[in-house]
Order: sequence, then C-alpha cells, then structure tokens
Amino acid sequence: MIIRPLTVFERESVRNFYLSLTPEDRRKRFCCTISDETISKYVDRLNFTRDMVVGAFDESAQLVGLAELVRGAMESEMAFSVRPEKRGQKIGTQLIQRLFLRARMCGVAKVFVLFLSDNTPMRRMALRAGMAVSTVDGESHAVRALSAATAEELAHWYAEENLSHGRYFGTLGIVRWGSLLNRSEATIPQPAEVLAPTA
Ligand SMILES: CC(C)(COP(=O)(O)OP(=O)(O)OC[C@H]1O[C@@H](n2cnc3c(N)ncnc32)[C@H](O)[C@@H]1OP(=O)(O)O)[C@@H](O)C(=O)NCCC(=O)NCCS
Repeated sequence: MIIRPLTVFERESVRNFYLSLTPEDRRKRFCCTISDETISKYVDRLNFTRDMVVGAFDESAQLVGLAELVRGAMESEMAFSVRPEKRGQKIGTQLIQRLFLRARMCGVAKVFVLFLSDNTPMRRMALRAGMAVSTVDGESHAVRALSAATAEELAHWYAEENLSHGRYFGTLGIVRWGSLLNRSEATIPQPAEVLAPTA
C-alpha cells in the first residue's frame, strides 16, 4: 500500500473516488445524505495547499482510500474513507497515522473527527489512535491534542514522503508501460501474418 499526500492535480481522482461511493458510504463519510452535485462542489472547494489530502494507492496505483484534514483556527477536522472492498486491512489506520504525523509537522495542535455513533470501524480506529470519543444525539466526536514533532520524527516523515512519491510514480510507470505494451501487441502484426502469402 502506498500512502502519499495528493496534489491539486489530483482533484478529479478525489471527485471520482467520492462519486463512486454508495449512498450509505457517503452518509458514513459526510454524516448526511449527499448528492453528486454537492459532492462535486465540496471537491471543488478542497484546498490542497492549506489543508491536507492524503491518499492510499493499491498495487495498480488506484486510489483506494482518502484522508483529509481541514485546518481550523483552534482545531482541525479530519475525515476518512476507504473503498468497501479494501476495508479491514488497516488502510484507515495507516491513513490516520500519516495524517497525524503530517499535522504535527505543520504545527496542528488539536484534531477531531465527527462520525455517526453506530460507525464501529471509525470508533475503533479513533480509539486505537488515542483519541477521546464522546457521543451526543447519534453523532460521535473524537478528539486528540497533538504534540510538536521531534527532529527524529521529522527525518522519518521526510524519508517516508519521498519514498511514497517514488513508489507511486514507479508503480504508475509500470502500469502505464504495461498497458502500452499490451496495446502495441494488439496492433503490431504478428510474424505469421506478415509472412502469410496474399491471394
Ligand atoms: C472508517 C474506515 C475509514 C476504516 O477503514 P479501514 O481501512 O477498514 O480501517 P482499519 O482496517 O484500519 O480498521 C480500523 C478498526 O475498525 C475495525 N473494523 C474494520 N471493519 C470493521 C467492521 N466491519 N466491523 C467492526 N469493526 C471493524 C478494525 O478491526 C480496526 O479496529 P482495531 O484496530 O481495534 O482492530 C472505513 O470503514 C470507511 O471508509 N468507512 C466509511 C466512511 C466513514 O465511516 N468515515 C468516517 C467518518 S469521516
């Protein structure tokens, strides 16, 4: 699994990711029923510079999970989504850990997540990540204060980010080359066809 921060050039991938979610998964992610149009407007407003958007990619360089952190003056809000067929493989856990580290590098002091109270995976993920969870009227709120990163963690973060970008573009290159090669195999005449006598 490759976990890396997304750039403004990947806005359409984020849009397609959210638009492909079922109504139930949209409800879990956004804590309400949400239309295609509203999702699209939400993605248009995502700020890849001020906020943080981190993606999880599979072995085909496909986006399979997304984590966001929207900066606030006192507290910053996080949100998570993993493709249904990829859940339960600790992708969400890796995303929250990476988002914590990035947040600490950027001086974010407090983070929170809002989720529906019956959302057991999100609750477990938050508790495992050391967040304090409280519930009011069917909605849960997980919060955690973050300490500033140490020099050692900064070095770790730097190495991780570089590695993940390198692994992503390496994987993407292999996938693209693979599809190019398959395409050319289909169009290049095979030796038997070239040598076949014409009528
Ligand atoms: C919440 C979500 C991101 C978790 O992603 P994930 O990759 O499945 O998470 P993990 O595999 O790291 O599992 C996290 C915890 O949930 C538990 N879990 C996973 N699937 C579960 C399930 N179906 N039922 C109960 N617990 C489950 C895991 O065991 C783990 O807990 P543990 O560390 O105590 O063992 C994912 O379920 C999701 O995308 N849900 C829809 C969107 C959403 O709910 N977002 C939250 C609001 S922003």
